[in-house]
Amino acid sequence: MSFKLIKETELHDDFEIEILTGLSQSPKKLSSKYFYDEYGSELFQQITHHNDYYLTKSEKEILATRSNDLIKNILDANIDLIELGVGDGHKTTHLINAILNNKKRLKYIPIDISEKAFQQMNEIYSKTHNGEFETLGIVADYIDGIRIAKKQSNSRVLLLFLGSNIGNFDSTNTKSFLKKIWNQLNHGDYFLIGFDLKKDISTLMRAYNDSDGLTEKFNLNILNRINNTMQADFKIENFQHFGCYNPILGAMESFLISLKDQDVYVKKLSQVFSFKRYEPIHLEYSFKYLESDIFDLAKKTGYLVEEIYHDSRKFFANALWKVEKNV
Ligand code: AVI
Repeated sequence: MSFKLIKETELHDDFEIEILTGLSQSPKKLSSKYFYDEYGSELFQQITHHNDYYLTKSEKEILATRSNDLIKNILDANIDLIELGVGDGHKTTHLINAILNNKKRLKYIPIDISEKAFQQMNEIYSKTHNGEFETLGIVADYIDGIRIAKKQSNSRVLLLFLGSNIGNFDSTNTKSFLKKIWNQLNHGDYFLIGFDLKKDISTLMRAYNDSDGLTEKFNLNILNRINNTMQADFKIENFQHFGCYNPILGAMESFLISLKDQDVYVKKLSQVFSFKRYEPIHLEYSFKYLESDIFDLAKKTGYLVEEIYHDSRKFFANALWKVEKNV
């Protein structure tokens, strides 16, 4: 595998502004996109291997068993595979091998905001793929990254957004994100998205309240991150993780609950934030979908649904959409 890296020069870091606005509003809010510092990313990897967290296993099953069919659905001889986010590579490897087995040439273009993510990726791909291909890593946010990737591409694009990451947007942001992506792609390009499906609530509750407390540590770690990067004095033991299903929204939601009346000083912002006993901080949405929601979202944002692939338990879906621009 040959490897090159392009870095977007204007990366924006809104962490401080978001902490200030999020903790000043009522109800208080911190964005789950800040879970992923080094320790947070390591905890997330552990969650994906935990028995209670079915999502990753289900999607791996789909990609391990259906990647060949999926790639055969795309008739072009060459494919440029663009991926939003660099995971641990164990899922994408099935698609890469299917492309290498069925197509003439592959260019793989992963996009991630963190340069570090590419080191781990290189180690994994040098062991798991069974053919030669060109890799171009792009350090950028997703939309800028797709714009840069498209300039480097002259074949049909298959864009990947795996892992139910789409579920972490709230519903208005989901549509605008999908539309922004549509703007960057050409008519006939493909988009493969992972959607976690609606299911028995007890299965959902277990996945987001795992028996080893990994999710609890993962959520509380956002306070450690604020302590470390912004010289704050959050006492982690004064907050409790709470994860629950909101059946009206169709989403798992996670909160940190303040266990006492307390003040927290954030030195870098020169601000004190006061918490009442039992006051929540909203952290994360993890939306769950019906198949009809997947069709509806595609239609509203300019895509045609080509195929929906499921795991054997029908817990998860990978939807293959095609960009439609001629209507
Ligand atoms: C990254 N994302 C799809 C995960 C999810 O399931 O929403 C994040 C996560 N939160 C708690 N556990 C895992």
